[in-house]
Amino acid sequence: MTALGNPSADSGAAWWRGAAIFQVYIRSFADGNGDGIGDLAGVRSRLPYLRDLGINAIWFTPWYPSPMDDGGYDVADFRDIEPAFGTLAEAEALIGEAHALGIRVIIDIVPNHCSDLHRWFKAALAAGPGSPERDRFWFRPGQGEDGSEPPNDWQSRFGGPAWTRVTEPDGTPGEWFLHLYSSRQPDFNWDNPEIRAEFEDILKFWFDRGVDGFRIDVADGLVKDPALPNLADSGTISPFSDQDGLHDIYRSWRKIADSYPGERSLVAEMWLDDMSRAARYLRKDELHSAFNFDFLVCPWDEAKFRTVIENTVAAHAEVGAPAAWVLSNHDVTRPVTRYGRAGDTGFAFADRLHGTPVDRELGTRRSRAAALLAMSLPGGLYIYQGEELGLWEIEDIPDDLRQDPVFARTKGADPGRDGCRVPIPWSGTESPFGFSPDGAEGEPWLPQPESWVDYTAEAEGNDPASMLSLYRSGLALRASESALGDGKLEWHEHLDGVLSFTRDPGFACLVNFSAEPVPLPDHEKVLLASAELKDGLLPPDTAVWLRTR
Ligand code: NOJ
Ligand code: CA
Repeated sequence: MTALGNPSADSGAAWWRGAAIFQVYIRSFADGNGDGIGDLAGVRSRLPYLRDLGINAIWFTPWYPSPMDDGGYDVADFRDIEPAFGTLAEAEALIGEAHALGIRVIIDIVPNHCSDLHRWFKAALAAGPGSPERDRFWFRPGQGEDGSEPPNDWQSRFGGPAWTRVTEPDGTPGEWFLHLYSSRQPDFNWDNPEIRAEFEDILKFWFDRGVDGFRIDVADGLVKDPALPNLADSGTISPFSDQDGLHDIYRSWRKIADSYPGERSLVAEMWLDDMSRAARYLRKDELHSAFNFDFLVCPWDEAKFRTVIENTVAAHAEVGAPAAWVLSNHDVTRPVTRYGRAGDTGFAFADRLHGTPVDRELGTRRSRAAALLAMSLPGGLYIYQGEELGLWEIEDIPDDLRQDPVFARTKGADPGRDGCRVPIPWSGTESPFGFSPDGAEGEPWLPQPESWVDYTAEAEGNDPASMLSLYRSGLALRASESALGDGKLEWHEHLDGVLSFTRDPGFACLVNFSAEPVPLPDHEKVLLASAELKDGLLPPDTAVWLRTR
């Protein structure tokens, strides 16, 4: 137990309102023991890198025991560590070491579903229809004379029906269970009080071990309309997203977070169309923040960015919560590829334009500008590992190496998300690029392209023009400029196609979305630019930070 050295224990300040938070996808971050899979030993060895990068906190994607059907989002035991990653004792040591470096720790909680290997799901299968064990999940008889049709028309977000039929203990084909994701991720029934009590206890288990917060997976999805109506009959209200009953759950979670010293924080993962609906979860007695995915999927267009930012700021102001800006994560195409491909705007396969031509140079240029934009907007910021190296999406992973269940569930139509999860290149001139120790037996669990030789943390750390150097400089200024982080912004009309705002005291950010270089407004000093200014002009696809007085 390591409340000791907890950075949030020694200050009451609401650190989460403006924090820069680095997302570690453990499997792909750093491999300590040489089996080709990232682990906690690897993370511990790279903590100095994260300190030097200048982030305030780490968010770890799920580190629990898991058969890894969905990269750990299929949790078999919420109170332990995946053996391939390490042990609970190592996790506790890691929390303490991060705290000692002034880095807070957020972990993922996955309350919508568990793994089919979770003890409760195994018990539900064994106990049979009508049992209290089955009531922890959504088991229902099938439709049709022999029950061979799913109970309703819901589809899995990974493709195919959201229902799978089980074989009963007596060997006959039996009930169906609900899974909004893969068939190895049964959904919990949150109308069952046992589920609520269990998760409250899990939160305490990890808060007691010093974690500073939770990222809540599928935060909009826990509560279902108990009638399980067909989607076709549901009108505009989703029977499995943004149901009113969710707010009570998060109010009780907030009370638990607030009962701990320091500012423990809860961040929601939810993709809701209506930002005002999402902001309702951020009322004072509910969650602290929620990822801003509208920003992530915004196409490269000045008016569109401005609209997203305005809507975000307005919706969050209604409830007094800070925004949380996101450019990438382990579920979406990497920004260099997205911005290098006109119109690549989303999570859904149809929006991703996988495999179509990419102008990587343009994508990199725009990613650099987007990074400075995101770092200078009011609120918190999330950075996904490898974003700071300017890595791009790897789209030619051989089919037989693909691991994302999306690939199999769509019968290969959607390649899935492996392309943004390739192990990080740290150093050296060939794979595993320092991801695994020298002489390691295991190959990285997904192949790294040779061209990453110029994109290792080591190579970029020595290059002042690299993406890593830009992130380091940006984050350092973000920490030292009192105008940045939490607060307000004011728009300025500069020139057509130029996004321009100021923040008090004395800071301005401009992003040139137009095709022509533009002059800068009056300023005292250029603090940082995402590309070289030419003759004092701001080139296209470039962002600049100015001190205005
Ligand atoms: C969102 C996570 O980010 C994603 O990786 C996962 O597949 C789904 N939730 C289901 O847990
Ligand atoms: Ca390993």
